[in-house]
Amino acid sequence: MNIEMHNIHKAFGKNTVLSGVSFDLVTGEVHALMGENGAGKSTLMNLLTGLYSLDQGTIQIDGKETAFKNPKEAEQHGIAFIHQELNIWPDMTVLENLFIGKEIYTKLGLLDTKKMKTLAQTQLDRLSVNLSLEQEAGSCSVGQKQMIEIAKALMTDAKVIIMDEPTAALTEREIEKLFQVIESLKKEGVSIVYISHRMEEIFAICDRITIMRDGKTVDTKAIPETNFHEVVKKMVGRELTDRYPERTPSTGDIVLEVKQATRKGQFQDISFSVKAGEIVGVAGLMGAGRTEMMRSLFGLDPLDQGEIWVHGKKAVIKKPSDAVKLGIGFITEDRKDEGLMLDASIRENIGLPNLKSFSPKGLIDKKTEQDFVDLLIKRLTIKTASSDISARSLSGGNQQKVVIAKWIGIQPKVLILDEPTRGVDVGAKREIYQLMNELTDRGVAILMVSSELPEILGMSDRVLVIHEGTISGELDKAEATQERIMTLATGGK
Ligand SMILES: Nc1ncnc2c1ncn2[C@@H]1O[C@H](COP(=O)(O)OP(=O)(O)OP(=O)(O)O)[C@@H](O)[C@H]1O
Ligand SMILES: [Mg+2]
Repeated sequence: MNIEMHNIHKAFGKNTVLSGVSFDLVTGEVHALMGENGAGKSTLMNLLTGLYSLDQGTIQIDGKETAFKNPKEAEQHGIAFIHQELNIWPDMTVLENLFIGKEIYTKLGLLDTKKMKTLAQTQLDRLSVNLSLEQEAGSCSVGQKQMIEIAKALMTDAKVIIMDEPTAALTEREIEKLFQVIESLKKEGVSIVYISHRMEEIFAICDRITIMRDGKTVDTKAIPETNFHEVVKKMVGRELTDRYPERTPSTGDIVLEVKQATRKGQFQDISFSVKAGEIVGVAGLMGAGRTEMMRSLFGLDPLDQGEIWVHGKKAVIKKPSDAVKLGIGFITEDRKDEGLMLDASIRENIGLPNLKSFSPKGLIDKKTEQDFVDLLIKRLTIKTASSDISARSLSGGNQQKVVIAKWIGIQPKVLILDEPTRGVDVGAKREIYQLMNELTDRGVAILMVSSELPEILGMSDRVLVIHEGTISGELDKAEATQERIMTLATGGK
């Protein structure tokens, strides 16, 4: 299928989001769409698939002018969209999620569960996903939910698949699998729009790239004719030298110590410590138990055995508020479900956990709150016209920044970051790293779970590698390499 989008304009109220974007897709190509958070990538694809209507411009499909009325119509015409924000129904099973709105019936009008199971299993196998179809989707990890979304799109027999940040929640192995699937789709003549902030991926699998900045197309190029530096420069409009700011850690006493922590079926006998001013990276494959460990540290799930010590004292953490009182902050990987109140304003999202500091004697000091919120918006370059706008209307990456801002404000002693830069653009990533350095300079102990090995290597002073719920290795900065981490993460020595 060939698609041509020409001179596209779109505004939401007074907020002009796209002003003159052109984009084209040819049969069997993987076309990268890159740009900073809020540049308009997801919006452009939502216009193509009929979620929003165009203010101006044309869309041609195989030479014929087209305007889909809604995403369902686009899908019926062979365009599938794997959204940046996952749309999983937690109370339904994996199977039900895969067929929602597309259930298959027998001649007698009964649900054809057998046929649906066979079709679903084929796609899960194709992606090497080990999941039971009967399982409640809510119990799946974020990575597994992402794989369900991908399988859902594959099941539609699409001619065009839009993948908006598909790998943000996946680890190296799943990504490799996805890339193999993309290769085979290409051979079948399927075209793919690939939106990602991960430069390595773009250069590994894409044929062409279109770069957007501030709602405009900056350039479209064949991948072999461009390079990392050029792409970054066109994206951010300036030179960006280092991806990771220099780190000169100076560590103090142990702040957090975990002793032989076990939660049955999730992790066993975990012992480690984090010092003041230190960044400890936690690497491992999806499902290794990293997030589960962090949840227990924060009091979301109880430990079956083991102890947590904070500042040399044994801590009792039964619920998140216990953890917060001890100075522990937790930035979760699942921003949609845990991190954000989507319908509340940015100000409320950032201000609420910090309410005490603005409300001496129970009265909210509006001005202090506003200054505080504005400062963080500026600091994290959150792209928004005002702090009164709902978190829902922010772009995906900017939502992530709001989650981070909310926790920075409470000045934690220990900060747990679970995939802190997922979906965040290169420039803003660097801001977040810089902020991490400032926090550790002030003596904050940071635990960073990340599936991006370059990030683990670039920011950690020490790396813990988790394999099947246990620590399979601990590496100093000097010892840590991509290869060693992968070996330990997959159970090798
Ligand atoms: N429904 C909406 N109502 C109001 N504003 C919106 C809406 N959808 C998007 N926007 C605004 O449009 C701009 C572009 O958002 P979009 O989601 O397209 O960015 P993006 O390039 O996909 O960014 P990211 O990399 O963070 O996902 C943002 O400033 C966002 O706040
Ligand atoms: Mg987006």
